[in-house]
Amino acid sequence: MSLLIQGGTVVSPAGASPADVLVEGEKISALAAPGSETAASWAAAAGTSVIDATGLYVLPGGIDVHTHMEMPFGGTFSVDTFETGTRAAAWGGTTTIVDFAVQAKGTSLLATLDKWHEKADGHCAVDYGFHMIVSDVNDTSLKEMEACIGAGVNSFKMFMAYPGVFYATDGEIVRAMTRAAETGAVIMMHAENGIAIDQLVAQALAAGKTDPVQHGLTRPPELEAEATHRAITLAGVTGSPLYIVHLSAAQPLQAVAEARDTGQNVFAETCPQYLYLSLDDLARPGFEGAKYVASPPLRPREHQGSLWRGLRTNDLSVVSTDHCPFCFKEQKELGRGDFSKIPNGIPGVEHRMDLLHQGVVAGELSLARWVEVAATTPARMFGLYPRKGIIAPGSDADIVLYDPRATQVLSAATHHMNVDYSAYEGFGITGQVRTVLSRGELVIDGGEYHGRTGHGQFLRRDLSQYLI
Ligand code: URP
Ligand code: ZN
Ligand code: ZN
Repeated sequence: MSLLIQGGTVVSPAGASPADVLVEGEKISALAAPGSETAASWAAAAGTSVIDATGLYVLPGGIDVHTHMEMPFGGTFSVDTFETGTRAAAWGGTTTIVDFAVQAKGTSLLATLDKWHEKADGHCAVDYGFHMIVSDVNDTSLKEMEACIGAGVNSFKMFMAYPGVFYATDGEIVRAMTRAAETGAVIMMHAENGIAIDQLVAQALAAGKTDPVQHGLTRPPELEAEATHRAITLAGVTGSPLYIVHLSAAQPLQAVAEARDTGQNVFAETCPQYLYLSLDDLARPGFEGAKYVASPPLRPREHQGSLWRGLRTNDLSVVSTDHCPFCFKEQKELGRGDFSKIPNGIPGVEHRMDLLHQGVVAGELSLARWVEVAATTPARMFGLYPRKGIIAPGSDADIVLYDPRATQVLSAATHHMNVDYSAYEGFGITGQVRTVLSRGELVIDGGEYHGRTGHGQFLRRDLSQYLI
């Protein structure tokens, strides 16, 4: 069964050019110049179905390498399941997610991996992989890192924040980084100085300051910069590759840029919320600010220019969502009267491609860079390229047809994430996904869902391609 995508503009990190794309089964089999004899012969072949992509971008499916479906946090769980979350991802043009398996203290990494497979396998609408959150560094878990790598999970997130929960000491970080240097794994770091932050939180609460905006004020960018710098130093000493997750501010970005200038294997991602939302949202009246509580927190608007610049200079290499949805009514509510009890996380898996396209519309990013930070580099960084992240012969037919002229307004009333509010309520967007294919199967077309629960396959990832 062949499918011809005709008349569109294929976008890759090398640029945008008109091309017809032939899909056979689950794979892209060839590209040809529109109107060429080759393209005409494909169109004429018996049994070929044709999609007219005139006026549309033909993009590799988006790859969101930072999501949290069904994540345990603060006594509750993020509300998107793997089923609802991957469906919402597909609506927004994301055809691969890499989610985090979360090791609870006292449990093994391999048992954790089994547990996450139980949650996800057979439930996803699009393909998925896992990173592993290491919250208990000990001889067993350090040994198990190798078995995880064998199972296709070769990136390990650690936390310098959340003492008593996920927090790792510098010594524990050094131990894990040493193993990463030995095995080719990547250490992903949540870089905020959690010990200092906990003191600031205690002081704020003691002074009767309980509103959501205090979440932002007690986690200043300097404490993200300090932790980022420390993580970079520890990675340098141990020879470990380092990927800073959800970088939010100018000062930690400066630390990353300086390390990269010396040639150190340090990478960073940012997220749409840091590009578009700000401390002003955390300070919304009443308890509204709780919708915007995530860590690191939203920053004053002045940081956003630095982040866009970092995306252009490649000091920020990836945009992921850190999608971690908690309902406003029942879950964010847990922190009314004490901001430190508000579950941390913002929903967004559905909107990453659209929000980044606004960067293209506004002249912050080129078309090629949009695709690079949203699909190609995530694929390379986490061992999925060239299977994913590019429109090329032999790659999976994960393809998005994107209408750059369509307009839409984001809203909880119309989104597909399983959460009762939108952090981007009322945002006007230029551009919209029209069609999504996952491994050659139609998932979205013209505002209708054609996908199937269980279509998504687990991706055993290779080692990062930036380290060899
Ligand atoms: O607030 C956030 N970011 N919640 C998800 C967990 C994490 O630290 O990534
Ligand atoms: Zn984090
Ligand atoms: Zn996260």
